[in-house]
Amino acid sequence: MATNAAFIPAQPNRVPDWLPGWRGMTGERLRSVVHGIAEPAFDVWHKERQFMNLQLHIVNHPDMIGHVLLDNHANYVRPKLTRQILKPVIGNGLLSAEGEDWRKQRRIVAPTFAPGAVARMAGLMAEATAEQLQSWPSETRRVDMAQVATDTTMAIIAKALFSGDPRLVTREAAKHIEAVISVAGQPRFLRMIGLQEYDPSPSMIRMRRSRRWLRETLGQLVRERGPDGGGDDFFGGLMRALYADLPPDEAAELAVDNALTFYAAGHETTATALSWAIYLLAGQPELQEEARAEALANLDGDVATLAERLPLLRQILDETMRLYPSALQLIREAVADDDMLGVPAKKGELMFIYPWIVHRHRQLWDNPDGFDHHRFAPENKAQQHRFQYIPFGVGPRICVGARFAITEALIILAHWLSVRRFSLPPGFRPLPYGNVTLRPKGGMPLLVQPL
Ligand code: HEM
Repeated sequence: MATNAAFIPAQPNRVPDWLPGWRGMTGERLRSVVHGIAEPAFDVWHKERQFMNLQLHIVNHPDMIGHVLLDNHANYVRPKLTRQILKPVIGNGLLSAEGEDWRKQRRIVAPTFAPGAVARMAGLMAEATAEQLQSWPSETRRVDMAQVATDTTMAIIAKALFSGDPRLVTREAAKHIEAVISVAGQPRFLRMIGLQEYDPSPSMIRMRRSRRWLRETLGQLVRERGPDGGGDDFFGGLMRALYADLPPDEAAELAVDNALTFYAAGHETTATALSWAIYLLAGQPELQEEARAEALANLDGDVATLAERLPLLRQILDETMRLYPSALQLIREAVADDDMLGVPAKKGELMFIYPWIVHRHRQLWDNPDGFDHHRFAPENKAQQHRFQYIPFGVGPRICVGARFAITEALIILAHWLSVRRFSLPPGFRPLPYGNVTLRPKGGMPLLVQPL
């Protein structure tokens, strides 16, 4: 099994020591969560920080992570500020709801992501990927694989959700979704004081226009489909479940909120993981050949079980999400005083769990910044702490779409590898960057060559 010892995956600069809290609110550090992190952050289990009147905890120890996100999760909720950002965009859907509202929706939505339901969507994932491949150039070219990944996962989620409704699978719909997501991670003063609806900046004006378009279009779709969901796609199932459990007005409102939630949460994260995976394969040609051989040997079988027949690609994907976790930070606010395994956490204090830091922590991983997919071979995985690898979060709010995402990513990678060879253009080094998801700044322009 090949790993290229000379290949050191790209990462942003770090600084040698902790900086004062206010420095996090300036320059590049404000725009990118992973920029300029202090070296000691990758060594300590916990660090308390103060910024203005906020008390923050960086929580790195896997036991503490388990305490906050699982064992005592009722005491740690999404912070008010996060909800303030999410609510105007995706309403009271699964990602932004709390308490009983959340529990009810999670119960309703969960069957849509059960193993059998995801396996039934595998054919659609493969078809959408094959359709996208038809427009790829037939000669060697530099191609922005981050954009290709976004187009592909966008087409898949739109097809899965809405059976390819012509209003929602177009480039126009994709642009509206992008406009809505792109501002979610922008640090904006008016948002912090609850006045984002009055923010006159061009990106916020675009966001409001796109949000209106999406909500009106989805509202129309809900009215047309009616309480029986109007079809056998993902959205139809979701609508039927909501109408069966809730008064019609509430069901209609939550159908729109959740359509937006899944549309937004269900493609960018997977596209990000794909961009980094194909970069890591482009940097390690021998490993890419091995993965290609696995893909070619398995593509012809039953598509419903294709993802399960790609163990090498699965290890590569797991290692990709260790090095480049799409979701950068899990933040919680303590609702009451607590003892966080020896560390006092007071009501109102914020817990920051950064998969980026935990996944590169020196006390948890050998050679933490180096690529080694063997870490995820079953015998090695069994040695890891349950909460040292957390790309999809932990506990009751763990990503509901994890199985969908993994199946989708493996199917897409297998198709890509079966038709093209990927390499790094001379001198190219991507820059991990981001506030909501860990995108490559400026895209992922790779050399793409027909086989
Ligand atoms: C590689 C791809 C993905 C990654 C890395 C990812 C990551 C995450 C993480 C870390 C959380 C938990 C956030 C927290 O605890 O604060 C989460 C929640 C969520 N994800 Fe994903 N996600 C991915 C793909 C998807 C897909 C494909 C969908 C839907 C089709 C989806 C829908 C959601 C929803 C609705 C939640 C909220 C769940 C709840 O609060 O009950 N995600 N995701």
